[in-house]
Amino acid sequence: MATSDICADLRTREVADDLVRAGRERLYPGISNPNWCILRRRSEIFHRWFHGLCLQNARVLDVGGRIQPYRELIPFAHTYWSIDIRQTALVNVLANAEHLPFADNSVDIVICTQMIEYVTDPSVLAREIHRVLRVGGSLFLSAPSIFPRDSVQDRWRFFPVTLRQLFSNFSELEIIPECASVAGFLRTVAVMLHFWARYDAARFVLGLSLIPLLNICGYLGEIVSSTRDGSFTVNYSVRAVK
Ligand SMILES: C[S@@+](CC[C@H](N)C(=O)[O-])C[C@H]1O[C@@H](n2cnc3c(N)ncnc32)[C@H](O)[C@@H]1O
Repeated sequence: MATSDICADLRTREVADDLVRAGRERLYPGISNPNWCILRRRSEIFHRWFHGLCLQNARVLDVGGRIQPYRELIPFAHTYWSIDIRQTALVNVLANAEHLPFADNSVDIVICTQMIEYVTDPSVLAREIHRVLRVGGSLFLSAPSIFPRDSVQDRWRFFPVTLRQLFSNFSELEIIPECASVAGFLRTVAVMLHFWARYDAARFVLGLSLIPLLNICGYLGEIVSSTRDGSFTVNYSVRAVK
């Protein structure tokens, strides 16, 4: 192999390592992560959901799969396609998910986490996912309900009623709030502090001080508060069976 090829190979592997690290931080978030409370909860929910699947040689499609936090929860995958509009070392299908380049009924599991808010029309994406799933196949999705706009591509937020409408043609649907209002409110404060702290040093200090404090207060607040008020739930996990 030529030296330039070896360097390119090392660079790709480095980028892949960064993405895998980013994925692991989403699956097992540290306490200094401003999204700790919802990532932690989603991880629990997805662990339980995937554990309950009895599938051999599953064909899995990760929609918006630039980073693949939940991939390691599916060791029984035979094929793992990852579709995204951004090419990374983990993406093997470069395409717009509103036109999935897959045949009808060709996939056993679709994972679609934190991406539906970016598409032009979420109902088109929901129809496409339904089309490519085989009958009895499952969709595992997560979607934000309250989150500051993070880019110019960010278009939508979702409530349970919207999610029920989007996935109404599935035969089974489960929607789980990833937190109630106390943790949701404190997580939003943590995210905004992280946004506003423009310098790495400021983020580092926040990550050692206020953000862990907000995370712990959110966690304990939900345990001790008698209400499970969901008016400030910030994110939902969704499981739908075709
Ligand atoms: C916030 S990231 C989520 C990554 C990963 N699914 C996760 O949960 O960490 C959203 C991803 O969706 C991708 N994306 C946005 N719009 C898309 C589209 N129309 N088709 C395919 N991918 C899209 C983005 O490029 C990005 O990689």
